[in-house]
Amino acid sequence: MSDLPKVALVTGGSRGIGRTVAEKLAADGFEVYLTFVSRPEAADEVVASIEKAGGKARAFQLDSADRDAIAAFFKDEIKGKADLEVLVNNAGITRDGLMMRMKDEDWDKVIHVNLTGCFAFLKEASKIMGKQRSGRIVNITSVVGQMGNAGQANYCAAKAGLIGLTKSAARELAGRNITVNAVAPGFIETDMTAELPEKVVEAMLEQIPLKTLGQSGDIAAAVSFLAGPGAGYITGQVLGVNGGMYM
Ligand code: NAI
Repeated sequence: MSDLPKVALVTGGSRGIGRTVAEKLAADGFEVYLTFVSRPEAADEVVASIEKAGGKARAFQLDSADRDAIAAFFKDEIKGKADLEVLVNNAGITRDGLMMRMKDEDWDKVIHVNLTGCFAFLKEASKIMGKQRSGRIVNITSVVGQMGNAGQANYCAAKAGLIGLTKSAARELAGRNITVNAVAPGFIETDMTAELPEKVVEAMLEQIPLKTLGQSGDIAAAVSFLAGPGAGYITGQVLGVNGGMYM
């Protein structure tokens, strides 16, 4: 056992699902490192809330679309300085629009942040975890990566790609006692979904057998389980947390 901090790294931990995941993993006993891209005051607020509850956390401004910055972050902040026990690839964006009218830059941006960014974190984390011969990686995908969704070709492609990445990484890293799983949220009440028109929300509710939207705590509970002692024999899986929307 080393004396280094036992870190859970959560990308996009400054609000929404990432914030709740960060708070839950801190309550589970990890020192949480969270990344964010803008609004440092929101990230500071999450750190303060974790500390108030008796946990430990640090926030880092780190754009998931910047591979060089991600590599530098691991070199400066993780390598030799922390036991990286958990990585949660949560940061994600939407740039919705029908495919025929989708701007190339909206396709590129979503793929870069939601898929390439996850790959960059996974690659760096796997080097550290590989040396440790232990680690848990949880990628936040989406129910629409499993089902497809009109108006979200870029987002669905990235999230479906993340499922393929999860399964491949699970196979590559199993020999080093690193598990890699995905959590696929359904329709969760956050800033991301607050932007949707009421009509779209009503149509979504029609498709959800449990007839209610999910909460970020539902996702945090699933991530906590996959990062915890009960999930050591689970790898390469996609855990749907979607009220039955996709089975
Ligand atoms: P949100 O928009 O409330 O929060 C996104 C987080 O990602 C923020 O902390 C933001 O700072 C961070 N972020 C965005 N771009 C970034 C970048 N380039 N670099 C670093 N951080 C960046 O989103 P929400 O709803 O909390 O979603 C979290 C994850 O869950 C995303 O991957 C999303 O695709 C996924 N998801 C959300 C669902 C929902 O219903 N809210 C459903 C299915 C999946």
